[in-house]
Amino acid sequence: MERFSGKVVFISGGAKGQGAEEARMFGSENAKVVITDILDEPGTLLQKKLTSIGIDCLYLHLDVTKESEWEKAYAETLSKFSKVDILVNNAGIVSRNSITETSLEEWENVLKINATGSFLGTKLAVPIMQEIGGGSIINISSTGGLVSSPTLGAAYASSKAAIHLLTKTTALQYAKDNIRCNSVHPGPIATDMLDEITSNPEMLELYEQKIPLGRLGKPEEVAHAVLFLASEEASFITGTELIIDGGMLAQ
Ligand SMILES: NC(=O)c1ccc[n+]([C@@H]2O[C@H](COP(=O)([O-])OP(=O)(O)OC[C@H]3O[C@@H](n4cnc5c(N)ncnc54)[C@H](O)[C@@H]3O)[C@@H](O)[C@H]2O)c1
Repeated sequence: MERFSGKVVFISGGAKGQGAEEARMFGSENAKVVITDILDEPGTLLQKKLTSIGIDCLYLHLDVTKESEWEKAYAETLSKFSKVDILVNNAGIVSRNSITETSLEEWENVLKINATGSFLGTKLAVPIMQEIGGGSIINISSTGGLVSSPTLGAAYASSKAAIHLLTKTTALQYAKDNIRCNSVHPGPIATDMLDEITSNPEMLELYEQKIPLGRLGKPEEVAHAVLFLASEEASFITGTELIIDGGMLAQ
């Protein structure tokens, strides 16, 4: 399939994990891909790897908490690829502390990267998309942005819940400009973010028991959903959420 011929995709936090898989899968369907992250070494290596398999891609340094870096990254994207059709607000960090264990500094840092980062990416992408007559924004939230549990990190859950309604607000405010915006809510996915769990067999078993499909998800299983929402197949889908969690929230 080549659903993204002529499309430019911009991914935050794309040097590794789910973002890197999305970069590869968008590229393999002919998109031009802009990978951004604060991890310049893996980001540059990924750009080289994708270029070597024929994907037209660019790696740019971007700390999502800094508005000036978003402006610079979009300016460089416009100069190389002329437009941005699809934005994936994927960059994120996790914190697993309870409310009383969370320092103000940790709270603000998690909110800033996860929620403010998605806000800035969206705010600056909208005028670019308005200019070209439309676009698609996919925000990576979490099952933790929809329901809570006593063990869920307070700052993480709050930041991912903010992304959930940022998504619906974006969808409603810019539907008139043919800009669609949807959120994706992964359950536990086997990336570095879950190292603490995957490196501990007992903890991993406990986790897997809570998942009806009995295993962690894979990055490509989230990426398939992101590509679908970005594609023309989802042309009447906006302001909604797609849960990819092996059945966890159905319980
Ligand atoms: N892995 C899971 O179980 C899981 C579950 C639900 C949601 N998510 C979400 O999926 C997204 C991708 O996470 P992942 O699982 O691939 O983990 P990951 O840790 O492999 O990837 C996260 C990426 O975000 C980047 N990042 C962190 N801070 C940044 C900043 N200030 N500016 C730019 N980039 C920054 C990291 O460098 C990294 O490349 C995150 O938003 C995460 O919260 C993950």
